[in-house]
Amino acid sequence: MAIQKPATRPANPRFSSGPCAKPPTWSLDALKDAPLGRSHRAAVGKEKLKAAIEGTRDVLGIPADYKIGIVPASDTGAVEMAMWSLLGERPVQMVAWESFGAGWVTDCVKQLKIEATTRTAEYGEIVDMATLDYDQDVVFTWNGTTSGVRVPNGDVIPADRAGLTICDATSAAFAQDLPWDKLDVTTFSWQKVMGGEAAHGMLILSPRAVERLESYTPAWPMPKIFRLTKAGKLIDGIFTGATINTPSMLCVEDYLFALNWAKSIGGLDALQMRANANAQAIWNFCATRDWIDNLAVNKATWSNTSVCLKFTDPRIEDGAAFAKAVAKRLEAEGIALDIGAYRDAPAGLRIWCGATVETSDIEAMLPWLDWAFQSEIAT
Ligand SMILES: Cc1ncc(COP(=O)(O)O)c(C=O)c1O
Repeated sequence: MAIQKPATRPANPRFSSGPCAKPPTWSLDALKDAPLGRSHRAAVGKEKLKAAIEGTRDVLGIPADYKIGIVPASDTGAVEMAMWSLLGERPVQMVAWESFGAGWVTDCVKQLKIEATTRTAEYGEIVDMATLDYDQDVVFTWNGTTSGVRVPNGDVIPADRAGLTICDATSAAFAQDLPWDKLDVTTFSWQKVMGGEAAHGMLILSPRAVERLESYTPAWPMPKIFRLTKAGKLIDGIFTGATINTPSMLCVEDYLFALNWAKSIGGLDALQMRANANAQAIWNFCATRDWIDNLAVNKATWSNTSVCLKFTDPRIEDGAAFAKAVAKRLEAEGIALDIGAYRDAPAGLRIWCGATVETSDIEAMLPWLDWAFQSEIAT
């Protein structure tokens, strides 16, 4: 017997973990003030880039003495330029509990050939950040987008550390508290919690990171795209809107729209509350079902953005095929797009809960998840 379909549907079925849903009030019209066909080095272009930098500072509450730059190649570009520019001065600890963190380990160990101490945890688990030596450099991911496991807070990172903390915060920024005094390098890209466009990375440097850049020259060659210093001095222009190479002014305009939307709804608190409410709706759903559970084990580490779920019903024989089939049913119905688990992650679903997602859409989608599960298990 066919399982009955729910009566209501999400208004927006976009639950991808990146690029993520646009802000609810977004339309193409939002980009009409983009200075298209103009140089990004003309006054109008530089003003927009500077506004993107200062808007970021404003919404995220980044201290005035931290540098914020817009850099090429999205979050990956920002992380790699930090690693290539800063590492090698002292021992390094690489920390990973999912796919992206693992990628930074490869960069460090196999590409830069640094004999780092590597600390890893399985999908769903986290490395105990209290056991690290913060007099060494530490590279880690704040929110593991492919496992739905996040650092709960930065309390264990000492304020008086001698090493640098280099943090990939791309799926955390704007949805989770980032303790700026504990982070020397923070990176993210626009297409996650803010629903912006891809290809531009944000690089945030503490005064100590700048000090390292100005006092240490790595042994390896540095392509132009990674170069943050000239003659031992920070290239300040990068942090005031004179980008290393050409940015998309259309993407900049789109990010400015997202920042303005964030301010209009109440800023960082409001963004975080939206992500929390979205994730909570899913957690509540899982708590009342015995066939689905959070992949993240410890509740303190449950992500409020990339919520990763696993099917636990003992009747399921092929977990990967089952999860794929459920995701396919939801996609075919136009209920939830792109919610299959990441390719390297355990089988399951990943539902983006960042601030641009409406809680009403999550709530309308969940009964369909019931429907898709019951339909699939019955086949
Ligand atoms: C934690 C994390 N790091 C890095 C990346 C790569 O980001 P980008 O495509 O912006 O370079 C992603 C993308 O999903 C991510 O989730």
